[in-house]
Amino acid sequence: MPMFSSDAILEIGRRVLVGLGLTPNDAEIVANELRDANLVGHDSHGVMRLMQYAGSIRDGHMKPETQSVVLTETPSWALLDGQFQFGQVTMTHALSLGIEKASKTGTATVLVRNCNHVGRLGSYTERAAQQGYFCLMCVNAPGPGGVTPYGGLDRILGTNPISIAAPYGKTQFVLDMTTSMVAEGKVRVAFQKGEPIPAGWIIDAKGNPTTNPADLYGNPPETPPGALLPLGGELGFKGFGLSVMIDLLAGIVSGSGIMRTDLPRGANGIWLYLLDIKSIIPPAEYDEWIEKYVSGIKNSRKQPGVTEILLPGEIEQRRKAQRIEEGVSLPDETWRQIKALAESVKVTLDDLSP
Ligand SMILES: NC(=O)c1ccc[n+]([C@@H]2O[C@H](COP(=O)([O-])OP(=O)(O)OC[C@H]3O[C@@H](n4cnc5c(N)ncnc54)[C@H](O)[C@@H]3O)[C@@H](O)[C@H]2O)c1
Repeated sequence: MPMFSSDAILEIGRRVLVGLGLTPNDAEIVANELRDANLVGHDSHGVMRLMQYAGSIRDGHMKPETQSVVLTETPSWALLDGQFQFGQVTMTHALSLGIEKASKTGTATVLVRNCNHVGRLGSYTERAAQQGYFCLMCVNAPGPGGVTPYGGLDRILGTNPISIAAPYGKTQFVLDMTTSMVAEGKVRVAFQKGEPIPAGWIIDAKGNPTTNPADLYGNPPETPPGALLPLGGELGFKGFGLSVMIDLLAGIVSGSGIMRTDLPRGANGIWLYLLDIKSIIPPAEYDEWIEKYVSGIKNSRKQPGVTEILLPGEIEQRRKAQRIEEGVSLPDETWRQIKALAESVKVTLDDLSP
């Protein structure tokens, strides 16, 4: 698999996105988010998304010429319409507006409707935590989902992810997770590699458990697809419950919607919440508690075979440091598709080829 430096991954994104019609500024925002996803190891949200985005622009679902607008606001909350601009651009707007409000009032909520795919949620919550905020972000899928209700057969819910971040010294705690057993991209990667997936991730079209990723997409093709299961295995009613609550707030209250048939898969409704920690507790006191807490967790007894307990976000932070050093590998097929896309929009990537 070809290897790329972090800078090259960013430049690939920038050039292709400008070729697709984004302004250089918007292309920079989106390319940075794609690179960040590759660096932390969530490759399903990295530059492999460029092909999907090109298709969505072609189909008229992504509108790079628009800009998100504030529909209603008070000093502590706002409702935005993303106007189907790139979700990363809309979310960058939402986050800076939320931080501006929370810096004055101590707390802020921002809801977004008509938003396209925002990518990795943890990137936004982490940025807020870097500035001293406790931040929560939830995303619903207003269009068709891929996840069944607990005990159900129909694909009603999205993977409805949730991310929560908070400062921890010079770094951050970053929980960033789907409320389904797994992100759909992880099944797709196994499908493309021809590898089985762990039991309990998906069911086939008839509701039978399966480890064949092809069953999620219709096996054989053109037959009804299977579905992802809600997070929790036998206790999947917990992931299902979280997902429903996210649909209520990020979907229904935001006006983004649920089960919409006029949207493709991948559109997002947003609920962003920010709390300025220092307005509630003195930073020194917070840091003291956190140190004590982390050391309590890290030094606690471990199960057989476990050498270290990792905190939320730690695995991604380590992978990022490693990939900045060693580079990012892309599957041959992904690199072939990116080069073909670049050529179709008259952009050269020859100088970035490994
Ligand atoms: N925009 C969207 O519509 C959308 C939809 C779905 C998922 N996503 C993104 O997909 C990405 C992948 O989600 P996921 O649920 O597959 O993530 P995951 O299962 O890889 O990780 C979930 C969480 O568990 C933590 N974690 C992982 N291994 C750990 C370990 N050994 N010990 C302690 N903590 C550990 C991670 O730090 C993370 O906070 C996320 O970035 C999410 O935001 C986005």
